[in-house]
Amino acid sequence: MSLHIGDTAPNFQAETTTGPIDLHEWAGDDWVFFFSHPADFTPVCTTEMGMTAKLASEFKKRRVKPLGLSTDTVGEHLDWVKDVDETQGVTLKFPIVADPDLEIAKLYDMIHPGESETAAVRAVFIIDPDNRIRLTMTYPMSVGRNFDEILRVIDSLQLADRAQIATPANWEPGDDVIIPPSVTDEEAKARFPHGFKTIKPYLRTTALD
Ligand code: BEZ
Repeated sequence: MSLHIGDTAPNFQAETTTGPIDLHEWAGDDWVFFFSHPADFTPVCTTEMGMTAKLASEFKKRRVKPLGLSTDTVGEHLDWVKDVDETQGVTLKFPIVADPDLEIAKLYDMIHPGESETAAVRAVFIIDPDNRIRLTMTYPMSVGRNFDEILRVIDSLQLADRAQIATPANWEPGDDVIIPPSVTDEEAKARFPHGFKTIKPYLRTTALD
């Protein structure tokens, strides 16, 4: 099954390193950063898990719950987490889903047979509090993800929801934002107190702070 932005994130029940979860129930009113990785006891994955644990306060600030997954068992995850903690200098607290039968990995299209028939690729799903998929991203096994980018897209999505704006290429929090073409100049004048710059009628920017 392939999942698209805007789809409801399929619910599932699973065993994890912190006990059984029902995805939608566990997410509650928070966002979810659901990410798969190929296997426990592998080097790139170890750094990604460490980075996710290091960024715990950044995720919490944004009301985002991280949730890992690989096609290993809870026992294997728990043994490996000890290595992650030791080598990455962290205490990993977020749950990692056990998926030895590949059920959830298949549900979320995380198995790409050209890479592996049994291990998940590095998939990312950012899921909002309405359980809607807001971003998908897929990396090959050999490339560790950029966690600055993961936080940046979460910031952009949350800001877009709050202020009904879009963000330009390489936007970072605090930079000017884009007024969507669906907003008229009259509405923009009322909505954006700092005014706005019209570079082309379809390309207008404004400062939010
Ligand atoms: C890794 O996490 O290091 C890795 C896992 C599977 C294939 C290649 C690299």
